Amino acid sequence: MIQVRGLTKRFGKLVAVDNLWLSIDRGDAFGFIGPNGAGKTTSITMLATLLAPDAGTAEICGHDIRRDAEGVRSVVGYMPDFFGMYEDMKVWEYLDFFAAAHRVPYSRRRKIIKDVLELTDLGHQRDTYVEALSRGMKQRLCLAKTLAHDPEVLLLDEPASGLDPRARAEVRGLLQELCRMDKTIIVSSHILPELAELCNKIGIITQGKLVTAGNVNEISTQIVGGRSLVIGMVSRAEEACGMLQALPSVSSAELRDGHVEALYTGADGDEHEVLTALIMGGFQVRSFEPGEADLEQVYLSATRGEDTDVSSG
Ligand SMILES: Nc1ncnc2c1ncn2[C@@H]1O[C@H](COP(=O)(O)OP(=O)(O)OP(=O)(O)O)[C@@H](O)[C@H]1O
Ligand SMILES: [Mg+2]
Repeated sequence: MIQVRGLTKRFGKLVAVDNLWLSIDRGDAFGFIGPNGAGKTTSITMLATLLAPDAGTAEICGHDIRRDAEGVRSVVGYMPDFFGMYEDMKVWEYLDFFAAAHRVPYSRRRKIIKDVLELTDLGHQRDTYVEALSRGMKQRLCLAKTLAHDPEVLLLDEPASGLDPRARAEVRGLLQELCRMDKTIIVSSHILPELAELCNKIGIITQGKLVTAGNVNEISTQIVGGRSLVIGMVSRAEEACGMLQALPSVSSAELRDGHVEALYTGADGDEHEVLTALIMGGFQVRSFEPGEADLEQVYLSATRGEDTDVSSG
């Protein structure tokens, strides 16, 4: 759906985006993560055809961003990180304006506007002036605007920035809904856990370079060096840790929150050998499951030495 090939942007001496390669499939929700100044906005703006690359290109739904900006814009909904709004318009007029700008015919606009207002939970604000909306509502309206021409691909640059926790959760819920509608989404943030919940793939960028990209577990494996296994023991948990540490396919094992947490470095799909080893060792195992990737650790390892800020918006 989206193929990014060597995309590069320089501002004077600074290489803001440095030879970016990405492949995003239809229906993917791709989380683009990195600290301030990493190059997220610059990349997304190039994909939205609002900034010309210095080298490389990208194709979105078969449209090349350099040769076919019109085509790209017809399939893409772009939500910038900062946006101005026409304040003296009513909510529905605002949406109608953008739908018309995207040449959605008059006959279809009513229905589309009704749908996006419903989706963004702004139905009851239909006749409110934009200037009277709260920040969170404006943000949702901006998202509604990016949907006004029913695009297949959404490029969302920090759609939840500056919002309080409840409003962030609402935006997240809305994005989840869009994923269910099979939109292909690129969404940026510098808060990894927020995106991980939503995205099936993530890419981490720092200083213009993509450090890593893939599904959350793959990345975690690559960066942390293994997959975590969470094992509940009936008894002798400490002893089990000792035994697991001696296994060649386990790089560490420790007690955490009453469970044994082991870092498995063996072949994918062979995790059962750890369970077998425990049982052969006479241990009673209550539960055995993959652990959640520790995203904060992944992010901090991937962006080590950077000015990172994972906790605040
Ligand atoms: N128009 C511009 N002129 C000069 N430098 C720029 C311009 N736009 C961006 N930059 C620089 O390019 C780098 C990448 O900026 P970008 O806005 O893409 O980062 P970002 O990942 O979106 O950061 P943030 O999380 O703060 O939004 C930064 O060092 C920034 O200062
Ligand atoms: Mg940005």
